Amino acid sequence: MTLPTRVKLVEVGPRDGLQNEKQPVPAEVKIGLVHRLQDAGLTHIEVTSFVSPKWVPQMGDNAEVMAGLQRRAGVQYSVLTPNLKGYEAAVLSRPDEIVVFGAASEAFSQRNINCSIAESIERFAPVVAAALAAGIRVRGAISCTVGCPYEGDIAPERVTQVARLMKDIGVQHVGVADTIGVGTPLKVQRAMEAALQVYALDDVSGHFHDTYGQALANTLATLQMGVWQYDTSVAGLGGCPYAKGATGNVATEDVVYMLHGMGIDTGIDLDALIDAGDFISRHLGRPTGSRAGKAILNKRSA
Ligand code: HMG
Ligand code: MG
Repeated sequence: MTLPTRVKLVEVGPRDGLQNEKQPVPAEVKIGLVHRLQDAGLTHIEVTSFVSPKWVPQMGDNAEVMAGLQRRAGVQYSVLTPNLKGYEAAVLSRPDEIVVFGAASEAFSQRNINCSIAESIERFAPVVAAALAAGIRVRGAISCTVGCPYEGDIAPERVTQVARLMKDIGVQHVGVADTIGVGTPLKVQRAMEAALQVYALDDVSGHFHDTYGQALANTLATLQMGVWQYDTSVAGLGGCPYAKGATGNVATEDVVYMLHGMGIDTGIDLDALIDAGDFISRHLGRPTGSRAGKAILNKRSA
């Protein structure tokens, strides 16, 4: 067992979290959330996506949100870009990192980005080349690495294949995503091992949705493999509009509580993070989806 001593969390709540909200969330609330997250010590924040506003209206204010940020030195701001049109719009907002997002499942690729896996790689290639030439980091997300809402179980070899395709076009890092949260620790370890056939340990991350309550266990299982980078979502916000019924990513508060309890450093102030989760949960008019968040808020009000 090789546990890391420090973990990097990429906060995806403003993007993965809010993209799934039916009611429009005003840009100023999104900006307020990012500011609270950076105040809490998050140094990597996925802010928004440059996708079609017809497909995902909630992200239609992408440029406004990026323009409204009071950027903090040392914080990296990422955005999703599915194609060149998205990249060309995104680059005007000066992201530090862009994310291309593919899938290990053909059916999910079709539903999510309206093309096959092979076509998605063709679309990503010029995006990756342009970003690298502009000095912008490139991350790839691989959806459905364990299971797919349309195809069921996904074999680890398919994760290796997509990781190889992403590596070949210059993607620097891949996130292994359990989009619908069906994974359990050994299955998620196998998906991660599949990505590690292609990418180094320092160039992979876990992105675990918590639909079946397994995401914290899956985080621990991959932490024990030495993985030290994870996408997490404040208050457990989120889901994917093309994976019906899937709930949010593992809550950032829960992961921070677990890591700090294990003596692993995150650089994050848990109390300030709880405040950020409370801010967005109040705006959305529902209790936080974070268990640690709930417990600490209850303790405060007792
Ligand atoms: P398409 O319809 O195949 O694209 O969509 P197209 O090139 O045929 O263009 C059709 C129309 O869309 C045109 O407009 C384009 O200009 C416009 P029209 O002429 O009809 O007015 N268009 C765009 N507009 C704005 N920004 C763009 C863009 N591209 C085309 N970038 C596309 C392809 C990918 C754009 C579409 O399928 C789409 O936007 N899908 C949404 C995907 C999405 O946001 N999914 C959720 C995020 S991924 C996720 O959550 C998973 C992740 O968290 C990991 C995990 O958990 O698994 C990352
Ligand atoms: Mg996701």
